[in-house]
Amino acid sequence: MTSVLNPQAEDVAMSFAGLWDSLLPVGRDATTGGYRRYSFTEADAACREWFFKAAAERSLRADSDRNGNLWAWWDVPTAGPASSAVLTGSHLDSVPDGGAYDGPLGVVSGFAAIDLLRAGGFAPARPVAVAAFCEEEGARFGVPCLGSRLLTGVLPPQAARELRDGRGVTLAEAMTGAGLDPAGLGEDDELLGSIGTFVELHIEQGRALADLGAPVAIAEAIWPHGRWRLELTGRADHAGTTRLADRSDPMLPLAATMLSARQAAASHRALATVGKVIALPGAANAICSTVSAWLDARAPYQAVLDGAVSEILRIAERAAAKHGVGCTIVPESVTPRVEFDAGLRGRLAAVLAASGAGPADGDADGGGAGRPVRHAVPVLSTGAGHDAGVIAARLPAAMLFVRNPTGVSHSPAEHADPADCEAGVVALAAVLEELAGR
Ligand code: GLV
Ligand code: MN
Ligand code: MN
Repeated sequence: MTSVLNPQAEDVAMSFAGLWDSLLPVGRDATTGGYRRYSFTEADAACREWFFKAAAERSLRADSDRNGNLWAWWDVPTAGPASSAVLTGSHLDSVPDGGAYDGPLGVVSGFAAIDLLRAGGFAPARPVAVAAFCEEEGARFGVPCLGSRLLTGVLPPQAARELRDGRGVTLAEAMTGAGLDPAGLGEDDELLGSIGTFVELHIEQGRALADLGAPVAIAEAIWPHGRWRLELTGRADHAGTTRLADRSDPMLPLAATMLSARQAAASHRALATVGKVIALPGAANAICSTVSAWLDARAPYQAVLDGAVSEILRIAERAAAKHGVGCTIVPESVTPRVEFDAGLRGRLAAVLAASGAGPADGDADGGGAGRPVRHAVPVLSTGAGHDAGVIAARLPAAMLFVRNPTGVSHSPAEHADPADCEAGVVALAAVLEELAGR
């Protein structure tokens, strides 16, 4: 198929910047500069409003599904009933004090890619949709990819309704407060059945593309990963009067757990992090009564992850017993390795190579005098979780990554250069054209 895309750099830049700039202030904390976009809060409502406005400005039919995920549809009246849609998008929620790009880049790029396709006069043969999945980060209710797990039936609706945030508010209560009906939560085969493929564009959360000198990559796989909550229960007492031998201090097994996480990660070639701790009652002059801590662990393969996690949890339990502390371990989410669909990846690689999205240099090999050599678009695996990894269990899914010059993510310092964001939009548009054009 001959591409209708003739991207004018200024048009892509304007379309992207208009969308990006209007979303940028939403949910941003003035002190830290980080984002606090948690599901079913005021910031979330503002993100939803932004999504519906972006859809309306493009005459896309928009709605929220039963699981709180947002959809904007470029309908195709001439498409037959079997013409399953091409889906793109990502998420708008953030980790506490997260960056601007993780999630929103994929949603903004989806709308901007539609602008670009329309500017080129592209007439899709099948519908194209942009989605914003609900609570991808699990920052409020503890389960990452909450919306896509519910949609695909991986998370049972009753278990979801009973999830509680840090203040004890249930997901059902939060949804009701936001005007959504928690009774409708659960697997949605009809909606999933209307989609043929999903391509999520995301900022890279590492430095591979910066090192390779390439703006865009295709994802190969997502590492297996998970979160385990440790509840360490001791006894509150006076810091200045309780003899060491009489203490039951949950901070001590926590310290052993944190050090063992680092050691096990290094020895197993995995990653393990304790990034969230709640110590109660939290007085500087008292021994804690309880400590809740979250272990996040990831590794390229399941056996490696299992080895590292069981070592860390064994050390946690032993240290708790040694210090007279109760220890309960609750797996909050466990996600197996995902290999993205090889056929779909091949199509993306071909279309991106043809559109010149690969890195270029001036070497002689094959380029000819004055012509830069084009290399294939890089293929990367990632330790970060994504909705595309959850959706991949139900339909062919793929991901594009956009260069992050520092690799920093889940931080206000997360960044992508505007030129790379625009290269991402052009690459996504080429992919949507390929997938929706026949
Ligand atoms: C999502 O960003 C995750 O990998 O935790
Ligand atoms: Mn993230
Ligand atoms: Mn993300």
